[in-house]
Amino acid sequence: MIRSIGVISAKGGVGKTVTTVNLSAALMEFGNKIIAVDADVKMSGLGLQLGMYHFPLTLNDVLNQNLSVLEAMYIHSSGLRIIPASLYLKDARISRLKHVLNDSELLDTIVMVDTPPGLEKNNLTIMRSCSEIIVVTTPELPSVADIMKTIKIAKEKKMNVLGIIVNRYKKGTEQITPEEIEYACKTPVIGIVPEDKTISRSIFKCTPAVFLNPYSPSSIEFKRIAAQLIGEEYKIPHIFRRLLWKLKK
Ligand SMILES: Nc1ncnc2c1ncn2[C@@H]1O[C@H](COP(=O)(O)OP(=O)(O)OP(=O)(O)O)[C@@H](O)[C@H]1O
Ligand SMILES: [Mg+2]
Repeated sequence: MIRSIGVISAKGGVGKTVTTVNLSAALMEFGNKIIAVDADVKMSGLGLQLGMYHFPLTLNDVLNQNLSVLEAMYIHSSGLRIIPASLYLKDARISRLKHVLNDSELLDTIVMVDTPPGLEKNNLTIMRSCSEIIVVTTPELPSVADIMKTIKIAKEKKMNVLGIIVNRYKKGTEQITPEEIEYACKTPVIGIVPEDKTISRSIFKCTPAVFLNPYSPSSIEFKRIAAQLIGEEYKIPHIFRRLLWKLKK
């Protein structure tokens, strides 16, 4: 069976790509066959977050030319497999995405799908192409208001919404709480990823945060969410292990 999990939000910049990269990395660390697909075919960012930018073929070509997905697959130095989108403004037949995500080459693979912001026709096509959906928001009103609309539409169209990830959460500051988000969206919050400077460092270093600093607060939460996605329990590492890792660095 091919699981394709779309990481969506109507609002831009809330952390969809960061979430896609780090959940993919965490799932890979747990021994799963993973591929991260950049369905943001106009403003691709997945490859760039990983420092990858030389792509003779991309998802755009796969969609336009009926190629096999594997022809546009690239492997990051960490071992993470990605299918990037074009870095240039190149049209793509997004209506073929569902077909591409169900390519038999991806059997037994979990496909994490990074998506563009918005709620336009193409966004809905991308959402429909995925077997499951995770919605990302920051704990601020404009972002939460946007995911309320997204989730409403997704549920009306009978899409499988796994839950909400609240990203960039800062404990003790004036923010909408995860409980309030759950209540407003009538959807469970499956993860609360804290604001973490490891994320910007990881983008600078072109390495998923989960690999760069496995014990950072965001890495631990991404691993916990990833374990939940595959029905496993993630034991938060003991504080001594975390300190030891820090001392070794
Ligand atoms: N948990 C976090 N802690 C700190 N910074 C974060 C966190 N999550 C995301 N960021 C910052 O937010 C920026 C935007 O994240 P990202 O590119 O993943 O958003 P996006 O939703 O994919 O944006 P777009 O809608 O433009 O595709 C990142 O470059 C990073 O600097
Ligand atoms: Mg993005």
